Amino acid sequence: MVVSVDSLASRAGLKVLQEGGNAIDAAVTVGFTLAVTYPSAGNIGGGGFMVIRTANNSFHAIDYREKAPITSAKDMFLDGAGNVIKNASVNGYLAVGVPGTVMGLWQAHKKFGSLPWDRLVLPAIQLAKNGFKVGPDLAQQLENFSEPLHKSKAVGNVFFENGKTLSTNHKLRQPQLAATLKRIAKNGADGFYKGETARLIADDMIQNGGLISQNDLDEYETVWRNPIYIRYRGYDIYSMPPPSSGGVVLAEILNTAELYPLNQYGHNSAGYVHTLVEIERHAYYDRARYMGDTDFIKFPIKKLISKSYAKIIKAKINPFVAGKSEKFDPIFSPALESEETTHFSIIDKWGNAVSNTYTLNASFGAKVMVRGAGFLLNNEMDDFSIKPGVPNIYGLIGNDANAIAPQKRMLSSMTPVIIQKNDRLFAVLGSPGGSTIITTVAQIIINLIDFEMNIRQAIEAPRFHHQWLPDVVYHEKRGLNMDTIHILKGWGYRLKSRSDLGRVQGIHLDMDEHANILKGWSDPRGSGAVSGN
Ligand code: GLY
Repeated sequence: MVVSVDSLASRAGLKVLQEGGNAIDAAVTVGFTLAVTYPSAGNIGGGGFMVIRTANNSFHAIDYREKAPITSAKDMFLDGAGNVIKNASVNGYLAVGVPGTVMGLWQAHKKFGSLPWDRLVLPAIQLAKNGFKVGPDLAQQLENFSEPLHKSKAVGNVFFENGKTLSTNHKLRQPQLAATLKRIAKNGADGFYKGETARLIADDMIQNGGLISQNDLDEYETVWRNPIYIRYRGYDIYSMPPPSSGGVVLAEILNTAELYPLNQYGHNSAGYVHTLVEIERHAYYDRARYMGDTDFIKFPIKKLISKSYAKIIKAKINPFVAGKSEKFDPIFSPALESEETTHFSIIDKWGNAVSNTYTLNASFGAKVMVRGAGFLLNNEMDDFSIKPGVPNIYGLIGNDANAIAPQKRMLSSMTPVIIQKNDRLFAVLGSPGGSTIITTVAQIIINLIDFEMNIRQAIEAPRFHHQWLPDVVYHEKRGLNMDTIHILKGWGYRLKSRSDLGRVQGIHLDMDEHANILKGWSDPRGSGAVSGN
């Protein structure tokens, strides 16, 4: 089964499984296909994280997060007076981190793949070359970003027809992207990091004041890391370690949540929201205080993910009164995260599983496309702390742990997870949503385990989010009933309703040994498709 945000990608992945490919093979196909069919977040010009479970029950995590260019500097987005240069880390060439996706898919395939690499890239080449009909979701995204995409001379006319963004059912053809993908199909990672594609990237950077050079591309490498392991109410959960904060923050949330009888409180009741929000307040404070790329900085991961630390968090929570974020020791410096990431989940017939979240950061990344190569570049540099004390557009505050340094990876919230019980797969899931990813994933896990929901109910249930600062409980529109809101306000909470939180793509296995049925669901908050047989 393959669940992703796009039906063409899910189907292409399923076809690989039907031809005898494994989950990692299918992940390569889905990853490349989304770069063509879901260009707002699917990518070859960005990066991400993949958690893998093999049929013989071993767990692996590959970090293919972007890196800061070799010539980057801590203060590169500040002017002479030390003020943040507006949008410099958001749009344009300086915002781009050294892309990791192609190397990530290449290395995952090298270690675990079984079908030939070029076969796996082929569906993406065909879709880019022959074109495909734009669906309503992509049409809407293009329209929403019409202005910055139009302004960007590097994007050219790829997404436009007669000066307007492509609307539903119009064909999107990407011949330059097809040519780039052909080089990747033929030469593997070298088709991106060396030769023609690399030359086009480096030339584009030189011509437009960007920093990425051939040197950066030569030195880019992925890292196999030990997944973060969380034991939650008898289930074993594996997720991403730093440079994503996802696994560590998820561990803090779930370990502390386990100390409360959440199912007795009732789903989305005032008591439940209060408990989870207070736990999130503490976990996100730790995120801001400590977390960054552990290849550059150290922080006490073992302590933060321990059961004893959960007891310390619990002891700080007043069961009837809202905590106050302003009472925490002040810490500074921003870290921006866009909500426009994408996730896909795959399980094959042998029990190999892939949970993959990757991104360009903002929708359509830095809004620049490599001239002659036809793919969009990320604006992941904006995930670093740009300047102490300045909250990012999502209100997240980090500290020096996440400051820019050459070849460092920027902190992320991406939280791909694989869950099992008694050595049997239980669920594979993840979500986009920037800083809201971790609380979304935590709620889905609690929905499945504590509230015994099925995957559809777990994904569709309304969600809420708190991240220490701003000190506000965000909830989806109509996500909490008026009684609950009234009680929470009485306990001292500020609440704000907002648009959707996350877009989960998940697969759940019935725990009945004899059933062995995969149940997939793609979040109705966006487009998406489950393909399986
Ligand atoms: N750019 C979003 C994230 O890494 O979490």
